[in-house]
Amino acid sequence: MTEIRVSQSLDDGESIALKEDDKHILLCKIAGKYHAVSNICSHARVLLSKGRLRGTTITCPLHGARFDVTTGKCMGGPAFQDITSYPVCNEDNEVIIATDG
Ligand code: FES
Repeated sequence: MTEIRVSQSLDDGESIALKEDDKHILLCKIAGKYHAVSNICSHARVLLSKGRLRGTTITCPLHGARFDVTTGKCMGGPAFQDITSYPVCNEDNEVIIATDG
């Protein structure tokens, strides 16, 4: 199983960009729960972490596509493909992201 362990805790509404090998991950905390999705916009490979997170929606900084960070679902164009959502769990004050799923 491939995983990323993060010991840094986030505040609600905060997000951080992570990179493990060739995977770019965006870790967000919303309403006390952690969510991890691909940090790469499905439109043109831009880092979504440079965009704005409001509620559960991250807006791509380049052309404004919107994605739900709790599911990876594309919520508005110009992108039309969803981004990958990764399973997250908490264990011993660490956030564990399973990146092989
Ligand atoms: S690169 Fe994200 S919307 Fe175009």
